[in-house]
Amino acid sequence: MARRKKIYEGKAKILYEGPEPGTIVQYFKDDATAFNNKKKATLEGKGVLNNRISEFVMVNLGRMGVPTHFIRRLNMREQLCREVEIIPVEVICRNVAAGSICQRLGIEEGEPLPRSIVEFCYKNDALGDPLVAEEHVTAFSWATTQELDDIISLTLRINDFLSGMFAAVGIRLVDFKLEFGRLYEGDMVRTVLADEISPDSCRLWDIETNEKLDKDRFRRDLGNVTEAYAEVARRLGIMRETQRAANDESDL
Ligand code: C5P
Repeated sequence: MARRKKIYEGKAKILYEGPEPGTIVQYFKDDATAFNNKKKATLEGKGVLNNRISEFVMVNLGRMGVPTHFIRRLNMREQLCREVEIIPVEVICRNVAAGSICQRLGIEEGEPLPRSIVEFCYKNDALGDPLVAEEHVTAFSWATTQELDDIISLTLRINDFLSGMFAAVGIRLVDFKLEFGRLYEGDMVRTVLADEISPDSCRLWDIETNEKLDKDRFRRDLGNVTEAYAEVARRLGIMRETQRAANDESDL
């Protein structure tokens, strides 16, 4: 069997060339990093859980008309996606104050925000992904005005859908990060949701207890990180199959 060509290796994922032109394979690693790579660990089973959770979210967003790069899951750790040109902006949507907005603006963690807030960060590890204004995004041509409009309206639709989806299983969607890409189809270019949506990229709190079910468990050394991710998967109804797959992997 020919070795696959690695296109890119990030902190939590590896991208390989896909089987057909215009496709890529996204491989979910167990590696976790935080604070711009200063804190690192391997969390056994995290990649399997994020692959399944992200698949579930992308499929459901696709069903409600959000264009995504996701094609199908290939196996426990890999999914087939359309190749896109990543727009170098991280889009953060917040419903409740947590994380960097608390430090920046002196807001208490857990304070509901007056309305959902969409923020942009320039994707640049060396600079620590700095917060930028819409003005920077268009002035530096990271995205066109049309793309930025599409990104904002898609982000708000995704927020509405995901907030409802998680609330239905007793989880508050505090905030999340999205990435978008350009999908070239002949002469046409479309803005589509890319990357992943998982407890690595969202803050998810139990609605009753405010228990954190996301990567903050790793950032803050709260323990039971993969157990919390598994709880998210279980509540979404995707746990049994994932658990079986994880057991199969450890039998190999
Ligand atoms: O750290 P901050 O509060 O700005 O993060 C907001 C949201 O974006 C959190 O859910 C966090 O997990 C996510 N995020 C991410 N990747 C980054 C920065 C933030 O997934 N590079």
